[in-house]
Amino acid sequence: MNAQIDNAGFNARHAEQAHLLQVYSQYDFEPVAASGVTLTCRDGRELLDFYGGHAVASLGYGHPDAVRAISAQAEKLFFQSNAVALEVRAQAADKLAAFSGMDRVFLCNSGAEANENALRIALRKTGRNKILALEHSFHGRTAAAGAVTWGAADRWYGFPRTPFDVEFISRDDVAAAVAAIDGSVAAVILEPVQGIAGAYVLGADFIQAVAGACKQSGALLISDEVQCGVGRCGTPFAIHLHNVRPDIMTTAKALGTGFPVGAVMLSEDVAAVLGNGDLGTTFGGGPLACALINTVLDVIERDRLIDNVKALSARIKEECVVGPVQQISGEGFLLGLRCDGSAAPMRNKLLSAGILTGSSNDANVTRLLPPLTLEDKHVDALVAALKSI
Ligand SMILES: Cc1ncc(COP(=O)(O)O)c(C=O)c1O
Repeated sequence: MNAQIDNAGFNARHAEQAHLLQVYSQYDFEPVAASGVTLTCRDGRELLDFYGGHAVASLGYGHPDAVRAISAQAEKLFFQSNAVALEVRAQAADKLAAFSGMDRVFLCNSGAEANENALRIALRKTGRNKILALEHSFHGRTAAAGAVTWGAADRWYGFPRTPFDVEFISRDDVAAAVAAIDGSVAAVILEPVQGIAGAYVLGADFIQAVAGACKQSGALLISDEVQCGVGRCGTPFAIHLHNVRPDIMTTAKALGTGFPVGAVMLSEDVAAVLGNGDLGTTFGGGPLACALINTVLDVIERDRLIDNVKALSARIKEECVVGPVQQISGEGFLLGLRCDGSAAPMRNKLLSAGILTGSSNDANVTRLLPPLTLEDKHVDALVAALKSI
């Protein structure tokens, strides 16, 4: 693309330092425009975004359907809260229920908020006080979501105590997991494909055994699909890889292709414990968010994007174990390129070659989280760049 770049010498990182709280380590470029999978930077460079805005840009950038939907909705009705019923919200809930195979939907604004509500619902439904989470998990930064995030207490949690009892279990010890799920456990929360951990796929036997033990002990299974959901893993939601129906599912990120959205999806049985006033949010389920949820789910179906994910993921797994890449983990478009040592030098070289990828909590793994609209020519470019390292 040939975007006109205004104010070419401006340094956004420097400008941000004046007043923004400095809590993020940042890449050394500023995107000023984007189209499809390509970012245009202020210095004129173009980058192929295999990081996808941190798994958010499901339809890529400036998708004509998304732009049309948000513009049309903004002109018609920019905002109304949940104090009134809206056609566009009813449509979003219907589509999300159909896409997820769940019965009921609560719309909110982010992944952490979705998990916060999912955990609250599980505690309330069971009357129990303990949540089991997995080692290496990430579920968000709020009080409850952070409480079930592996390592948060040591690094950034900040609250003096967690709001409920938490126990972390190994992600590959089936017997230990089953043994831990007893009558004191309200819920097990897991990411079927752990994202920030470095695209780690939980085994089918692990997930199925955990689901079975939950059923037996009356604990709920919460599938956190904030990063791995919405078609990213080659199925509508990643838990569908294992034919398991959780009691609660959460999602966010890709669902709004860049507009902040979050969703909790529930079985009818779990939903039955909730009534008027039990959950709430001002912005969740707003008309702009719902217009984008409708568009994302429609375009995924119309353009067969899940088939695209499966085909191109297979190509990446087949062709990208080259150069410094020793192994590829993950599913669909949540992939981890594993190097022998630190993956940072490879990430930097890919960036110099015009390909943006993401880090992970595993220092040897670089994550790929590209838009579901990725094309063969982009995979060609990735393969060529890796070969040249
Ligand atoms: C699996 C998972 N859950 C929850 C979250 C938190 O989502 P948010 O940043 O929208 O609060 C993330 C964010 O990266 C995530 O990857």
